[in-house]
Amino acid sequence: MGPKPVILDVDPGHDDAVALMMACGSPGLDLLAVTTVAGNAPLAKTTRNALRVLSLIGHTGVPVAAGASKPLGRALRTAEDIHGESGLDGPEIPEASFEPDERSAVELIADTLRGSVEPVALIPVGPLTNVAAFLKAHPDLKGKISRVSLMGGSMGLGNTTPAAEFNIYVDPEAAREVFESGLPITMSGLDVTHQAGADKAQRDRLRNLGNVGEVVAGFLDFFAGTYERAFGFDAPPLHDPVAVAAILEPALLRTRTMRVDVECKGDLTRGETVCDVRGVTGKPPNADVGVELDREGFFDLLHDSLRRL
Ligand code: BDR
Ligand code: CA
Repeated sequence: MGPKPVILDVDPGHDDAVALMMACGSPGLDLLAVTTVAGNAPLAKTTRNALRVLSLIGHTGVPVAAGASKPLGRALRTAEDIHGESGLDGPEIPEASFEPDERSAVELIADTLRGSVEPVALIPVGPLTNVAAFLKAHPDLKGKISRVSLMGGSMGLGNTTPAAEFNIYVDPEAAREVFESGLPITMSGLDVTHQAGADKAQRDRLRNLGNVGEVVAGFLDFFAGTYERAFGFDAPPLHDPVAVAAILEPALLRTRTMRVDVECKGDLTRGETVCDVRGVTGKPPNADVGVELDREGFFDLLHDSLRRL
C-alpha cells in the first residue's frame, strides 16, 4: 500500500507546527495540501506561520491556501496567551520562501479531492470553520473524504472553559456541522492529547535529534512556559500531532465509537462535546473517540518522522 493521501487544516500554533512537520516527514503520508484557519492567531498570522514552517523544512511544493478569517457566526477568539503574539513565538525562524496559493481553502480542498484517485483523509487541527464551509459548498465531494481525523473536544474537562476545548469553543456551529456530516470521524480530544505531554525528557530527546530537532525543542520550550503559567504544568500536550498519528498509525490510539453532540448555546457549556459514553441517548454513533494513546509509540513515531526531514 502506498502512502495515505491527507490534507491538513491548521492554525499554527506550536503543536500545529509539529503536526505539519510530522506529516511532511512521514513516508506513510502523502501531504497533498495545507489549508489555514483563524484560531490560535488571526488568519494572516496562521497562514504566515504555516508557510514559514514548510519553508524551514524545504517543503515548498505543497499548496497552502488561506481559509476562514473568523468563525461561521461569531467573533474570533485567539490564544496569544498560549502561542504568543505571532502565534508561533519562541525561536526566530526565517520568513517564508513561497507564497500562498491563490485559491481559497475551500477551493483547494475541492480541487485536491477531485484530483485524487484515492479518497483523502482530512486532518483539521484548528477550529472547524473551513471544513464546515467546504461541506456546505461541495456536498457532492463528501465521498472523496476517507475520514476526518480532528483534534478537538474532550470527553471530560475543557481547557478554554471548564466544559470546552479551544478548537470547538471557537466555532461550535462549525463543529456541529462536521459531527453531523455522516463522515467517519476520529476525535482526538484532550483525553488523549494530554497523554502526549512533551516533558523535559522528550524535549531534550528532540533537541538531540539533529536537523529541525533544535527548533522544535525551542518551540516546545516556549509552549512549556505558557502551559506552566496557564495550567500549572510544563509538559505541553502535542495535541495536533495526535490527530496525524491517528491516520498514520491508527493502532496507537484506542478509540470508542459513540455519539458526540456539540453544545452551541449553553451559558456555561458552549463548545462542549457531549459524549454519549454510556449510549443513553439512543442516537446513532457518529465518532470514534480516542480514549487511550500509546505514548511511547507516539513519541517514537514523531521522532522517526522528524528525523527524516
Ligand atoms: C488546540 O487548541 C490550540 O491551541 C492547539 O493548537 C490545539 O489545536 C488544543 O486545545
Ligand atoms: Ca491547532
